[in-house]
Amino acid sequence: MRVLVIGGSGVVGRPTASALSQRGHQVAILSRGGTAGPAGTEAFQGDLTTGAGLEKALAGVDCVVDCANVTTTSRSAAVRYFTDTTHRLGVLAAAAGVKHHVVLSIVGVDKIPFGYHVGKLAQEQAALAGPVPATILRATQFHEFAGQTMNQMKFGRFSVVPQMVTQPIAAAEVGAALADVVEDGPRGRVAETWPTCRARSSSSRPS
Ligand SMILES: NC(=O)c1ccc[n+]([C@@H]2O[C@H](COP(=O)([O-])OP(=O)(O)OC[C@H]3O[C@@H](n4cnc5c(N)ncnc54)[C@H](OP(=O)(O)O)[C@@H]3O)[C@@H](O)[C@H]2O)c1
Repeated sequence: MRVLVIGGSGVVGRPTASALSQRGHQVAILSRGGTAGPAGTEAFQGDLTTGAGLEKALAGVDCVVDCANVTTTSRSAAVRYFTDTTHRLGVLAAAAGVKHHVVLSIVGVDKIPFGYHVGKLAQEQAALAGPVPATILRATQFHEFAGQTMNQMKFGRFSVVPQMVTQPIAAAEVGAALADVVEDGPRGRVAETWPTCRARSSSSRPS
């Protein structure tokens, strides 16, 4: 099938595009920078916040996977970004005849009141209420998250390191789980991808 990975140049978007391409799917990626994706994928430039470039990138697409991101700790900014972009993507995807809208979310978004998590929960709700049948996959933080946070919270020579407890998972493993979700078709909310678990097999936390 033809799959568009939005944010396919990012930490989890790239391995997702790569896994889908290796399974024989026709894969395109979209980002604001129009950055090239993994070998064998087609790159589009576009912006989820304005809708620019989306119509062209969505043409002929069967499934769209949203791996885009915004860097903010503000609850209102996160809710606005994830609600607006998910709604816009749903409407444009429906108009293009897309049959499946996949969203990557985070384990615990319904229990942890961080501003960013509230935004991700709003994204889940917007996708499930949208015009294209959706699947939500939740993952824990990636192994790569530590480096991402160090870079985002850098002040001169120093980085602010927040205290948190997490069971990290490799972004490559989440990419493979997202490829499973794409192939399985729309299923609403699926089991969470705990470390070492795959979307098709996970139903419980590791002990
Ligand atoms: N990081 C984690 O540990 C973690 C854990 C669980 C779930 N998640 C979820 O996974 C998703 C991706 O996270 P990530 O860490 O892989 O993000 P990332 O590395 O920051 O990548 C974000 C991607 O989205 C693109 N992008 C950003 N704004 C965009 C826009 N307005 N329109 C189109 N493309 C845009 C970026 O490219 P350009 O900048 O060129 O546009 C990039 O390709 C997020 O929704 C996040 O909540 C992350």
